Amino acid sequence: MTDNKNKSATLSLGGKDYDFPVYEASVGPDVIDISSLYAQTNNFTYDPGFTSTASCESKITYIDGGEGILLYRGYPIGELADNASFLEVCFLLLNGELPNEDQKDKFEHNITYHTMLHDQMVTLFKGFRRDAHPMAIMVGVVGALSAFYHDSTDVTDAHQRLVASHRLIAKMPTIAAMAYKYSIGQPFVQPRNDLGYASNFLHMCFSVPTEEYIVNPVAAEAMDKIFTLHADHEQNASTSTVRLAGSSGANPFACIAAGIACLWGPAHGGANEACLKMLTEIGTVDRIPEFIARAKDKADPFRLMGFGHRVYKNFDPRATIMQATTHAVLDDLNIEDPLLDVAIELERIAREDEYFVSKNLYPNIDFYSGITLRALGFPTSMFTVLFALARTVGWIAQWNEMIEDPKQKIGRPRQIYTGATERPFVNINDR
Ligand code: SDX
Repeated sequence: MTDNKNKSATLSLGGKDYDFPVYEASVGPDVIDISSLYAQTNNFTYDPGFTSTASCESKITYIDGGEGILLYRGYPIGELADNASFLEVCFLLLNGELPNEDQKDKFEHNITYHTMLHDQMVTLFKGFRRDAHPMAIMVGVVGALSAFYHDSTDVTDAHQRLVASHRLIAKMPTIAAMAYKYSIGQPFVQPRNDLGYASNFLHMCFSVPTEEYIVNPVAAEAMDKIFTLHADHEQNASTSTVRLAGSSGANPFACIAAGIACLWGPAHGGANEACLKMLTEIGTVDRIPEFIARAKDKADPFRLMGFGHRVYKNFDPRATIMQATTHAVLDDLNIEDPLLDVAIELERIAREDEYFVSKNLYPNIDFYSGITLRALGFPTSMFTVLFALARTVGWIAQWNEMIEDPKQKIGRPRQIYTGATERPFVNINDR
């Protein structure tokens, strides 16, 4: 990030001018460094929801919401989804470059040989009710990894950070599959070193001890692509949560558990589960107008799940790829899902409706992912778990970048206080 000597921002406040340096982006908006604002003016900036605030410098992911562009380390998401495996994308996000053959083989070996979970962690699952939401299990078990893998919790040690990164990427599918198996009362299935990342996950989820399970290659390819589409997304709410938790020096497992907790919300990663529930509630195409009207009604808290985005004010490039993947999976698995008809008609109507057009509300990645995941055999309660599984590499890459940033310090925002000013205590008899 270069301090653009030719550009600065001047703020006039109380009859005095204050200058602030402007730093140049390689692409996208430049930033005004206002870190000295409080010291110079005794004022804070005010930006709830951080709609105009850059919280950090990053080289990992770039989004252009107006043009519907998403780049991982400079590579367009569509080219990565079509040409690279998820583990190649993981290597790219972590290291900044795509792996060569040797690097790819070594990385895949490293991840494969970290997929097993400490056997005593199985006991943790027994503490949950069978009907516990799998995301509750993910938050608990991932956080508990720090109680079993002490040799990779020193965030100041680059090697320990690398081991923790590989452990998290490798073990998330195992933990996610165990959360699913626990919820349906089936025995846990151990990972297999002869299967690829996505195939191993499907095998751990859907195989049973009583018969051989052959992974469907179309399903494995779709799963791998879905992981890539969800891998990272700049400074979204859960990534910002991981960065903020990490800024205190918390161990990586605790930070990722915090990210999982934040992703769970229906406005964020929980939208794919909420979207499928909404499509199911709509049920048939003829009921769509009723729900469109509800979404427009300010008095009704209902929102069209899977529509809208803080950054994309045009199409979400991931949604476009997701839609194509949905059709491919349903066609190959020969599945007729009436909800897909509802989704396609809902998208068509919403994209022509003035309310949605004027507010730039387009389908986001969560709009189609739920239909695909249901076709692959997952219950809706597992949808956000899969999002968290895929996003772990993005969280980890961003966490490492934050730790390695020499300018990094603990995140500690301020506020505008509008509460009571100082006043003397009042005894209960006088209140
Ligand atoms: C993800 O940040 C990321 O990158 C997230 C993510 C990632 O990969 O990490 O991309 C993943 O979280 C995708 C988003 C999934 N969420 C949903 O699909 C839930 C439904 N969407 C909305 O809740 C909403 O669109 C958000 C939360 C996604 C974005 O909210 P913003 O940017 O704060 O926009 P807003 O709430 O200020 O809405 C702007 C206007 C409002 O109307 P006005 O008050 O201006 O009149 O649009 C309306 C909103 O009421 N609006 C919707 C709507 N989304 C926004 N109206 C109906 N249905 C919707 N879905």
